[in-house]
Amino acid sequence: MVTRRTLLGTGLVGVAAGLLPGIPETLGHRGALANTANPESIPLELKPAKGRASFFGSDGPTTEVWCYNDRVPGPEIHISRGETFRALLKNNLPQDTTIHWHGLRIPFAMDGVPGLTQPPVRPGEDFLYEFDVPDAGTYWYHPHVRGSEQQGRGLYGAFIVEEEEPPLVDRDVVWVIDDWRLDETGAIHESFGNGMDLSHAGRLGNVATLNGLDSTSFTLRAGERVRLRLINTANARIFALRFEGHRPIVVALDGQPSVPHEPENGLVVLPPAGRADLILDAVGEPGRSYAVEDVFYPQQNFRFLDLLYSESRPLRESPLDAAVVLGANPIPEPLVTEAKRHEILLAGGAMGGLRSALLDNETLDIRTLAQRGKVWAINGIVSHRSDMDPLLVFERGRTQLLSITNDTAFPHPMHLHGHSFRFVTRNGESVPHAPWMDTVLLAPGDRIEVAFVADNPGDWLFHCHVLEHMEAGMAAVFRVA
Ligand code: C2O
Ligand code: CU
Ligand code: CU
Repeated sequence: MVTRRTLLGTGLVGVAAGLLPGIPETLGHRGALANTANPESIPLELKPAKGRASFFGSDGPTTEVWCYNDRVPGPEIHISRGETFRALLKNNLPQDTTIHWHGLRIPFAMDGVPGLTQPPVRPGEDFLYEFDVPDAGTYWYHPHVRGSEQQGRGLYGAFIVEEEEPPLVDRDVVWVIDDWRLDETGAIHESFGNGMDLSHAGRLGNVATLNGLDSTSFTLRAGERVRLRLINTANARIFALRFEGHRPIVVALDGQPSVPHEPENGLVVLPPAGRADLILDAVGEPGRSYAVEDVFYPQQNFRFLDLLYSESRPLRESPLDAAVVLGANPIPEPLVTEAKRHEILLAGGAMGGLRSALLDNETLDIRTLAQRGKVWAINGIVSHRSDMDPLLVFERGRTQLLSITNDTAFPHPMHLHGHSFRFVTRNGESVPHAPWMDTVLLAPGDRIEVAFVADNPGDWLFHCHVLEHMEAGMAAVFRVA
């Protein structure tokens, strides 16, 4: 049944969706979110619960998902920098949950990590999140309990923080990109956390979606300039998108403004949890369509969606020539020369060299670890709970330089909570523009350096955002004290 659009023999079905005319519901665009400025008012309610999604059109099967407020993705939150955000989580799931505000540099107590920053929110219970939003940009939210399952079933949404002076574009659009592992009936495959996914590339899906909608095209008008905010909410899939006939310009990564640049080889690479803000000038011809292809996995390229041009005459004769430069966020600049250095070694997984590691203060061989569902280690230590003793303690206010080595056979998108870091070097060479990021992708064998000022006090998770890797041990706690 689930064969509406089978692509390139991989069984991968493209059900990417365009935004026109189905523009997702927007909450409180430009500060209109009823409660944001007034702490006495009613907060936004976020209600994770079972729901249904139709990935295959009105004639296809529907899929039981878990989602916020009855839709996938959950509500698209818009707020302005500096405003106070308030959300009441009401847990209607059959499991504990929390909400983590990915990429936002907010106080520790609001970070949503159960057992570390707050107690888990039990079924039927509530939790109020309230924080001031420090930075403009493209962020997102998701649970931090059983992520492989909860996020894998559809719990996530976009969190957009508007600039005071947004760049001049004709449209500002969010693309939430995900993949799903579905069975022949269109139901979510129940194989969460199986040993194969834990020890290899994580839970890769067989169906790709854009904003959870059921069409495969994104409509453009010739001549218009669009800001595309891409968010990869997949458990494990890395996307590398190629825009046929177009030259998108990257203006922000992981929410933070970057020097505007064309992506390397024209490929917009989005690891799990990664974001990219693109400026896309619609330089195509009215009535034509152009492919957006995903080419990350060599044997599994597929057409992700079509850029479909309307017949309307071009909005303007030639593209706008004003470059788009976003105003910087107030992140302290690291002083690399005065940095405290730390070595971080990622090890384990299938085809890796890890023989043993420390689990709960006990040295265990890799077979015993695997029997306990643990196959990855950071500096020889397997994470087994979120309130682990800190692996590293950072002096507050000082620049930290993490030198991270991927001694495994798989790529890992490594994410740090509570901070953004500059991506300084890769394999000994400096990274152009040293972009600010919160999730950095390491290819097998990579050695990279990231630098940041540890200015946010608390115990912060550092983990692989392939959720199966995190759950199988690839996580640590860094304390800023
Ligand atoms: Cu998206 Cu621990 O994070
Ligand atoms: Cu995070
Ligand atoms: Cu990983």
